[in-house]
Amino acid sequence: MKKVGVAILGLGVVGGGTYKILTEHEEFFRRTQEVEISVESVLELNRERAIALGVPEEKIAGNIAEVVCNSDVDIVVETIGGVGAAREFVLDALNAGKTVVTSNKELFCKYSHELERAAKRHNAGLYFEASCVGGVPVIRTLLDGVQSNEIYSMMGIINGTTNYILTRMAKCGCSYEDALKEAQALGYAEADPSADVEGFDAAYKLSILASLAFHTKVPFAKVFREGIADVTKEDIQNGKALGYCLKLLAIGKQTHSGIEVRVHPAFVKEGHPLAAVDGSFNAVYISGDSVGDVMLYGRGAGEMPTGSAIVSDIIYAATHSENKYSTFKNTATGDKETNYVADFKSAYYFRLTVTDRAGALAKIAALFAKYNISIEELLQKSGDEKTATLILVTHETHEFAAKNAVARINASGLAHVESVLRVAQ
Ligand code: HSE
Repeated sequence: MKKVGVAILGLGVVGGGTYKILTEHEEFFRRTQEVEISVESVLELNRERAIALGVPEEKIAGNIAEVVCNSDVDIVVETIGGVGAAREFVLDALNAGKTVVTSNKELFCKYSHELERAAKRHNAGLYFEASCVGGVPVIRTLLDGVQSNEIYSMMGIINGTTNYILTRMAKCGCSYEDALKEAQALGYAEADPSADVEGFDAAYKLSILASLAFHTKVPFAKVFREGIADVTKEDIQNGKALGYCLKLLAIGKQTHSGIEVRVHPAFVKEGHPLAAVDGSFNAVYISGDSVGDVMLYGRGAGEMPTGSAIVSDIIYAATHSENKYSTFKNTATGDKETNYVADFKSAYYFRLTVTDRAGALAKIAALFAKYNISIEELLQKSGDEKTATLILVTHETHEFAAKNAVARINASGLAHVESVLRVAQ
């Protein structure tokens, strides 16, 4: 039976989950995969943590050199995170000819070109299923499940923290601040939540997924990004009244004018499969020319779901002798021939405070019409004696037209645009 030795760098939440799955399923993998996988080394500064997990003392390495020089180690798992030591250690492992499995989305998003070059040079494997959407096998699906398709769109809820916050705001009517505190208390959000709430985490993942889906390197810098920190419960409730749910969406589209990649809050119609994805769950909705629509749903984070993705990569590497690399030229800046669409099309939700007098509504509608923006739905709520709140949902228009219309309305003195949210089609 084939024997494979694994080293784990970092025994935090994900590394710990990986260790548990590997040690608890040894016999299962022998039986079902015909491979004997053993943990031969771990690199963890907190020795007590490693010992508490059951790692024998002699398997705790003192430094990365001990790991990469260990001839019993074939596969190195990186679960340290960030782009400092993790980048250095992964390169050390690849340069020593070890296959690497990583859960590090920031590292893979920013440096996959460099890592892949080192992997190819040393005939090592490089696997990253756990970098995107935790336990949901979206990368394997793109590589080995729907590769016969031209993918024309991908829409996902790929950050559990923000989905938890938005779900709480919708279901309990709490403010963004209160929902964030709750997410922090439950361990979903970090003390510094910016990577999640400002959309960085989702944008790293979208850059990776869009590169695989569209067969061209989509650099992080090309991903349009807006977070959820300015979302108000009022807008969520207004959306609800109109039959919409608000989600932080990651959208990738291949259009005739080029590629669109964007992360931003957006309303989805209540009947859409993504609308039902609540709490910390994730989902990705992929549309291809032959398969039609495919949706993957599950846990995008956590020790066991993300550990599951890592161990699947370990098994894949252990049972495949050929290494597969990108289907596209993997450079830092991507292909110069690839166009990106900044003036993308979307429908929009606007909330305006209007001076409540005869003709105001007609004038506002006329301003939208100037930018060729057609109104699909309209809701008016009375405010104080002099003002009213207008909620408008438009038909599909262009991003720049929506921005220009907002500037024009605000300059007109007729109304003030309080919020603008995109509505996914
Ligand atoms: N912080 C991420 C999330 C999990 O909330 O989905 C890891 O990417």
